Amino acid sequence: MPHLINIQNLTKQEIMSILTKASEYLYIDNKTKKINYNHTKELDNKTVYNLFYEPSTRTRVSFELAAKNLGGRVINIDVALSSVKKGESLKDTVLTLKAMHSDVIIIRHSEDETAAFIADICNDYPTIINAGNGVTTHPTQALLDLFTILKHKPNIEDIQVSIVGDILHSRVASSLITALKKLNCKKIHVIGPEILLPESKLHFGENVSIYDNLKDGLQDSDVIVCLRLQKERMMHTLILNEEEYLHTYGITSKSIKYAKPDAIVMHPGPINRNIEISSEIADGKQSVILEQVTYGVAIRMAILALYA
Ligand code: CP
Repeated sequence: MPHLINIQNLTKQEIMSILTKASEYLYIDNKTKKINYNHTKELDNKTVYNLFYEPSTRTRVSFELAAKNLGGRVINIDVALSSVKKGESLKDTVLTLKAMHSDVIIIRHSEDETAAFIADICNDYPTIINAGNGVTTHPTQALLDLFTILKHKPNIEDIQVSIVGDILHSRVASSLITALKKLNCKKIHVIGPEILLPESKLHFGENVSIYDNLKDGLQDSDVIVCLRLQKERMMHTLILNEEEYLHTYGITSKSIKYAKPDAIVMHPGPINRNIEISSEIADGKQSVILEQVTYGVAIRMAILALYA
C-alpha cells in the first residue's frame, strides 16, 4: 500500500484492516477513565512532513500527534512562510522534500487530484497521504467517520445514515458515501437546499437518496452527519440567511426529533454553532463530535503504521 489517495481505491478488507489496527491503539486510562493512545516505535527513524495548503486544526494536529505516538519525527511546513510565497510550484516543493529524505508527505490542498498528482511525481517514495483535496476526497476523515459509526451502530448494513447541509462542496460527504457503500450500507440520505445539492439525482449512484427537506430526509435516521457551509469553496455568492438556514436545515432540538430517538449526531468540524447545528445539539447527549476527534488520532496512527 504505497500511497493513500482516496477511499475508492481501497477494498472493504483494506478499510477493515485500518479500522482494526486503529482500535488496537486505543485504551481506557485507569486513572482518568478516558480514552488514551498506546505508544509504539513503528515510525522510529521515519520523518513525516505535514504539507497543508489550506487551514486545518483536526487533521494536521492529529497526524502530528499520531506520528509522534508512533515514535516518528514530524515537520510542519508553514506554507505561508515557505518558498511557495516566492512562486515555487507544488512539484518543486514536493521534490525538495523528497530530496530531504521524507518518508511520508501528508498533503491538504484546495485542488482535487493533488495527492494523485504528487504521488505520480514521487513514484513509490515517499508515501503520499491525502489529508483533504478539493471538493472530492478526504479519505482519512471518511475512515474516522466509519470508525465512529461502527462504535455506536455496528449493524452498518442495516442502518440509515443522513448527511445534511452543503453536500455540493463537501469532500467529507463524497468520501463518506463511498466508504459507506464499500461497507454495504444500503440507506444513505443526502439532504440540503437545492443550490447545495448535486444537479443530478443519480450523482451518487445506488443506495443514495436525495432530499431537499429535513422532515422527509431525517425520517428513521440512525446517524446524522451535519456539514458546515463551506463558503470558501462556493464559486458564486450564495444568498443564505444564516438564521433562516438554521431554521430550515440546521440540526436543532426540533429537527432532531425527525430522526430515531437514539440517533447519533456527527460533524467533521470545524462546527459553526447556530448556523448548521444548535449549541444545544452540538453539546448534547446524542453528539459524538468530540469522539470523532479522539478516534481520528487512532485512525491516523493506523494509516501511518500501515503505509509509512
Ligand atoms: N474535519 C477536518 O478536516 O477538520 P480540519 O479542517 O480542522 O482538519
